[in-house]
Amino acid sequence: MDEQRNPKLEIRDDEPPEPAPAEPTPVAPRKSSFSRRLDRHLQKKAEADAAKAAKVKPRKKTKRDHRNHDHVTGQFLPGEVTDLAPDVVTFAGKSPLAVMKTYLPHLYYAESRAAWKVFLKAAFAEPLDAEEQAVYRQCTGRTKEFVEAVREIWLICGRRAGKSEIVAFLAVYLACFKKYHRSKGEKILGMVLAADREQAGVIMSYISEMLHSNKRLEALIARRGNQFRETQKSIVLTTGITIRVNTSNYRRVRGYTVAFVLCDEIAFWESEDAANPDHEVLKALRPALGTTRGMLICLSSPYAQRGELHKTYVRHYGRDESRLLVWKAPTRVMNPTFPQEDIDAAIEEDPTAAAAEYGADFRTDVRALFDPAVVQACKSTHEERLPQAGVTYRAFVDPAGGSGQDSMTLAIAHTEIVGEEASESTVEVLDCLREIRPPFNPDDAAKDLADVVRSYGLNSVTGDRYAGEWPRERFRAHKVEYELAHKTKSELYKLLLPLVNGQRVELLTNPRCLTQLQALERRTGRGGKDSIDHPPNGHDDVANAAAGALVLGVNALRYRFRCVVPAPATEEMRAA
Ligand SMILES: Nc1ncnc2c1ncn2[C@@H]1O[C@H](COP(=O)(O)OP(=O)(O)OP(=O)(O)O)[C@@H](O)[C@H]1O
Ligand SMILES: [Mg+2]
Repeated sequence: MDEQRNPKLEIRDDEPPEPAPAEPTPVAPRKSSFSRRLDRHLQKKAEADAAKAAKVKPRKKTKRDHRNHDHVTGQFLPGEVTDLAPDVVTFAGKSPLAVMKTYLPHLYYAESRAAWKVFLKAAFAEPLDAEEQAVYRQCTGRTKEFVEAVREIWLICGRRAGKSEIVAFLAVYLACFKKYHRSKGEKILGMVLAADREQAGVIMSYISEMLHSNKRLEALIARRGNQFRETQKSIVLTTGITIRVNTSNYRRVRGYTVAFVLCDEIAFWESEDAANPDHEVLKALRPALGTTRGMLICLSSPYAQRGELHKTYVRHYGRDESRLLVWKAPTRVMNPTFPQEDIDAAIEEDPTAAAAEYGADFRTDVRALFDPAVVQACKSTHEERLPQAGVTYRAFVDPAGGSGQDSMTLAIAHTEIVGEEASESTVEVLDCLREIRPPFNPDDAAKDLADVVRSYGLNSVTGDRYAGEWPRERFRAHKVEYELAHKTKSELYKLLLPLVNGQRVELLTNPRCLTQLQALERRTGRGGKDSIDHPPNGHDDVANAAAGALVLGVNALRYRFRCVVPAPATEEMRAA
């Protein structure tokens, strides 16, 4: 008989064993009231310490603080960090497009600026998609992309293409989001160069607007009290960089540590004391960019086939091996919002000029009149030659009103006969050059120049038809006759050309005269007629007076020979 099992007594393997009876929880010993108070005190103290550690009271700022940004580590000392939005500091190392997207989204998301975005990607060696590559090839003539960010950019674009705006953005990026090596106390500049301060002011105004358009960028402008350390000429940033306007004068750009340079409208730079200011300025600047490994950005609409812009274009455009980015594009490729009808009207009026202005082509109709080396070879060691007895001088004046941009100038010259009798030739010698720069009183200027004319034993001066009767009256009042030149300025220069090329001219060591002569350019008009003048933004007052005085001599000499050397027919007639 099966023994009936009692399930309650049966032990089964799959059932969990019965839990062991819980041990009785130890009862905390009862604390005395003193211990309880001590615990509460310690806990409060720990909480207070933790709160204190979390909330550091900013120390008082010192003058030195803004220099304490270490550009190698990218760290700021606490005094400065408290002023900045924290993510501004951590942004160092972002690409320009990432910065544009975050801080200036109105530029980033504008469809019309697509080509400029390709430009930025190309310059900073970011990968391009197929569509972007097509734009890149069209504007650089290259087939290969850059493998690292470039250090030199040359932008040759049509008018209103957006050059100034995009380089202003680059200035903001390079000043706020890039680190530079800097020794203690070293001041780093970001330079904006243009032919004059007003022109450089265009880029400065774009930079200022971009910085103020975003609160976090604005926080990077240094302050003195509540005032931003910003003027029309400079903006001081808490990153340790000062963005500053400079003129394109090679003497004024030396001696600084420079993070980046923007050279606006470099094809139109003019200088009073350098025949090729673009070359001189870049030569002076490149060492300043060396220690910071800074970026050089040159931009311009194209002009004549000379100068650094054209030289760089010839040497580097379309060269895959070049380490420079040369970006050449017509206006509407970079800025499709520019009206096509304006371009069409410009083409109709002057196709060559429009091709340069909007098509970004260098002008083929503008050439330098003189070879600079030939002009230099005509230079003598004299600054001025004093009047000599027995020499016949002549004087030429280029009058001006004194209130505009033009100087009033006077040149005095004479002719010398050189060589043996058989191979005798003449040299036109410049004796004296005077320039009175504006502003001046035209009456006083005429008196001063008349005094100089008389000191060379002359009682007449030749000049152009400037302002009708006015110069005649002024010079006559000072006992000097003003005779009208029957040649235009262009004709005077044309007559001077063979004299200079044949080294039949002796000039003075007057840098203004030499510079202006070297800058003269010959332009072929629509009818095929040539005209010679100074380049845009330039002056030629001193060169004009010098050319007048030198060339007048040639005519006088011809006249003298005609009068003094009797014609054979006349002799025969006399003998008869
Ligand atoms: N791609 C674009 N899309 C829309 N607007 C643009 C574009 N590029 C430039 N602009 C606008 O055109 C105007 C001229 O820009 P900017 O001054 O930068 O041109 P620029 O090439 O320097 O002209 P300029 O040859 O006269 O010096 C500005 O108002 C700018 O905002
Ligand atoms: Mg511009």
